[in-house]
Amino acid sequence: MKILETIKETKETILRLKEEGKSVGFVPTMGALHEGHLSLLAESISDNDVSVVSIFVNPIQFNNKADLEKYPRTLEDDCNKLEDAGCDLVFAPSVDEMYPGKVQEHYDFGDLERVMEGAHRPGHFNGVAVVVKRLFEICIPHKAYFGEKDYQQLRIIQSLVEQQNIPVEIIGCPIVREADGLAMSSRNVRLSAEERKIAPSIYESLKNIRRKVGNGTVNEVLSLEKDKLNSLPGMKVEYLVIADEDKLKPVNNWDETKKLRAFIATFLGEIRLIDNLKV
Ligand code: PAJ
Repeated sequence: MKILETIKETKETILRLKEEGKSVGFVPTMGALHEGHLSLLAESISDNDVSVVSIFVNPIQFNNKADLEKYPRTLEDDCNKLEDAGCDLVFAPSVDEMYPGKVQEHYDFGDLERVMEGAHRPGHFNGVAVVVKRLFEICIPHKAYFGEKDYQQLRIIQSLVEQQNIPVEIIGCPIVREADGLAMSSRNVRLSAEERKIAPSIYESLKNIRRKVGNGTVNEVLSLEKDKLNSLPGMKVEYLVIADEDKLKPVNNWDETKKLRAFIATFLGEIRLIDNLKV
């Protein structure tokens, strides 16, 4: 497995592989890799001749300075996991390599960026779009893999590719969970032992909502689950909504003509966790 830090070498290497007729799959990550990330790589390996993973903690998508500073950085360990999993190339640039000058780009995702993560994390999706567009230009993949764990991000990337005419196929992959249901996340290691015990109730809540679809109003079901979660020590729900999978517009009734999904963001102590479930 090759590990490259410069844009030039990475682009040249991938161009050469493409000239040889190889198909290229790409998995962008911020490192601190877990089974969720590795599931995206496994998809890429099964679909493509060559698989590229990027590891870059993207400063411009963090709207919280402490979150950026405390984001786990485990490059050596990550590279070992990637090599064992069959990755061909890792692109792990420095911040200066990715951002040699001031970032000027501004993308408009319309209503998609005005709800949920977009509403609560100003600038977050623009930061994601800027880095992913640059990564696509460097890694020029045929296909790129994103987790449904960050469902809104997946929709934003699909919109980015469409509006910027980027010739890459976006593949969405299912959420990988711990045995107790907690969605895997690089931030889970920052939970205290006590918080970690409470964390699976987030998924429990989503499953309760799925079970209650059509029983009571959307508002009643959501309020009850939100109150139950908020009564747990350290838990503070930021949003809990049901939205349609396409436009991500929150709904007030169980609209059977739409594919619905429940979305949550919650603080558990200092750590902000997100999850979602098709209902
Ligand atoms: P990161 O949080 O490292 O996630 C990288 C990819 O792994 C994303 O597509 C995310 O949805 C997916 N992923 C994370 N946890 C998962 C889980 N439990 N199951 C399935 N997939 C999971 O998302 C980012 O990085 C960044 O925003 C990035 C796209 C790299 C841009 O900086």
